[in-house]
Amino acid sequence: MEWIATCPHETVDFLAIELEKLGINQYKKLHRGIRFQAENEQAYRAHLGLRTASRIQKVLCDLSMHSLADLQKALEQIDWPKILRSHRPFMIRPTLADEESTQLGEEHIIAIIKESVLNSKFEKSPPKYNDEADNPITIVLFVRDQQAVLAIDTAGRALHKRGWRTNGHPAVIKETMAATILMMADYDGSMPLFDPMCGSGTIAIEAVYIALNKAPLIHRGKDDFSLEHLVGFDRILWRKISDELRAQKKNDLLAPVYANDINEKYVEVARKSALKARVEKYMQFSCGAFQDLTPPAETGLLVCNLPYGERIGRGIAEKLLTEVGQALKTKYAKWKIALLIPSEMSVSSLQIKPKRIYNLFNGALPVKLVIIEPRHD
Ligand SMILES: C[S@@+](CC[C@H](N)C(=O)[O-])C[C@H]1O[C@@H](n2cnc3c(N)ncnc32)[C@H](O)[C@@H]1O
Repeated sequence: MEWIATCPHETVDFLAIELEKLGINQYKKLHRGIRFQAENEQAYRAHLGLRTASRIQKVLCDLSMHSLADLQKALEQIDWPKILRSHRPFMIRPTLADEESTQLGEEHIIAIIKESVLNSKFEKSPPKYNDEADNPITIVLFVRDQQAVLAIDTAGRALHKRGWRTNGHPAVIKETMAATILMMADYDGSMPLFDPMCGSGTIAIEAVYIALNKAPLIHRGKDDFSLEHLVGFDRILWRKISDELRAQKKNDLLAPVYANDINEKYVEVARKSALKARVEKYMQFSCGAFQDLTPPAETGLLVCNLPYGERIGRGIAEKLLTEVGQALKTKYAKWKIALLIPSEMSVSSLQIKPKRIYNLFNGALPVKLVIIEPRHD
């Protein structure tokens, strides 16, 4: 069986590391994801356990696609009643990745696939097409260079939706991005972790999950993954894997996780999310301006997603970065640092030489993750 786990282009290497940790070694890196081979057991583990993947798809077939007739022909080989169930609505999401494929017309592609499903002989009735349903089964068709992959999105809701987020912060980062940043900073739970501008707590909560070896999607509700609604879904195996992953969770942290924000309201949002994520008891929250704080430990990893964007203005963001640089130099010399800042901001304001810079996107905004190693003098 072949699957595709998607992720931003810049983070493919980290997704590969995660797959290898799950024992999945047969894979091929793509532009925005990884195609891999896995039996159900490993694939179920990937659905519950990948921290950096955006979505997972099950591959149905590959085809050369010079025209819509090629798609029609390939669909004749697809036995939809052996894939889809009657009770679950479905929708179709084509991705036409170059100009040539765009000319095939998204609406034509949707119509052809839809007809293929609706005209198949289901024991009861075919599933209903409904692209406005809550979490419908999504058939995806990716086309580029006259080659196409037909697949089913088996995650359903995007995988950054872990099921614990509390609304109330205007500038959160995705959970998948927080996990990637932590991987880029080599976080493994063995050192104290401090997010001094935690906002809604995304980075600190993901850190606790990593430190406890807790599967990121383990608290998703029953039936939330599209996978669970497909023909052939093995509920007993799914439960076995879920139980195994639960059993692999450690009971305690090796080193503390601290989350702070200047705004009390956001600290409360973070605390609520941590409660929902069932990790609040492992975290230490505080409220204050980073510049005034005493480091919570002698050494550790400080990860920080600085405020930026139109809400606070560029001048203020630059001034804050300079102040953060000052605090880092004077109080956090023994800490490893990972700072997420917009690409347009100059690292020179920090007046500390970074060891490494990763270029990423936070939504549509180009950002960079600046990694600074501790000083050993
Ligand atoms: C971009 S947000 C962080 C978002 C967070 N990563 C999340 O996913 O929710 C930046 C946060 O820094 C906080 N902040 C701004 N200036 C601060 C300061 N001087 N000290 C501590 N926190 C500050 C803001 O209140 C805001 O919540």
